[in-house]
Amino acid sequence: MSHEYAISVNDVGKTFRSRDGQHNTVLRGMDFRVRPGEFVSIVGQSGSGKTTLLKTISGLQDPTEGEILVKGRPIKEGLEDIAMVFQSPVLLPWRNNLDNVLLPLEFRGTRDRAAEDYARELLEMVGLGDRATRYSYELSGGMQQRVAICRALVSRPELLLMDEPFGALDAMTRDSMNFEIQRIWRNTGCSVLFVTHSIPEAVWLADRVVVVGGKPGRIVADVGVDLPRPRGKEHRFSPDFSEYATEIESHIGVTTGIS
Ligand SMILES: Nc1ncnc2c1ncn2[C@@H]1O[C@H](COP(=O)(O)OP(=O)(O)O)[C@@H](O)[C@H]1O
Ligand SMILES: [Mg+2]
Repeated sequence: MSHEYAISVNDVGKTFRSRDGQHNTVLRGMDFRVRPGEFVSIVGQSGSGKTTLLKTISGLQDPTEGEILVKGRPIKEGLEDIAMVFQSPVLLPWRNNLDNVLLPLEFRGTRDRAAEDYARELLEMVGLGDRATRYSYELSGGMQQRVAICRALVSRPELLLMDEPFGALDAMTRDSMNFEIQRIWRNTGCSVLFVTHSIPEAVWLADRVVVVGGKPGRIVADVGVDLPRPRGKEHRFSPDFSEYATEIESHIGVTTGIS
């Protein structure tokens, strides 16, 4: 059954209550929707509530106000459609790459031959086809993060949530990961919510960039990115690209030194 929206965030607020009774309202009046297959980047200053927003959408935390629907249903029922990638890949060192990728399916008891073939296919897709039986300590940071992305994709999620997945990588690896994620997204057709500190990365990848700001955090801008696809390096130097980046930078309210 198809739904108009992959995610609906309806007037969501999140307040943390500490043991001594203090209240910290981190999100208020968050309201936006993601269409099926859409790639949405989220940017905002550190502490503006981006991770809180993603955790709330994933169902790891409950909102204190409003509601979140995934394909029109409350999240608790749709969890298997969602996968999350964090900044740190957190692979199990005693499992090889293939077994790390297959872990979520083992938890669900659905690991079988077809699943193993698909896991190998994913490793192939991210250029690690020949490393399936290697261990994470034999891989660079970028390679480990690619394994973590395969692990997120192995359950064929319709919704991929990524929280600064390339934040720990060097600039060149990060660039090639951007190409990788664009390709994966085009191949799988999943909807993506992608949190990043990098405005160029946000613009280059996205159909839309949502800017979170203020205290408590809310949406201060929602900018559609109308650049042709698939995108190549040349788009980073186009006048349109710079215009988008400058506009988003102005909404964040900090100078980030885009070159
Ligand atoms: N589990 C929690 N309990 C209490 N406060 C939290 C919790 N998680 C996050 N916060 C607070 O929420 C605010 C936003 O954090 P976060 O969502 O991590 O921001 P960002 O990802 O944009 O840097 C911070 O002030 C942080 O201290
Ligand atoms: Mg964060």
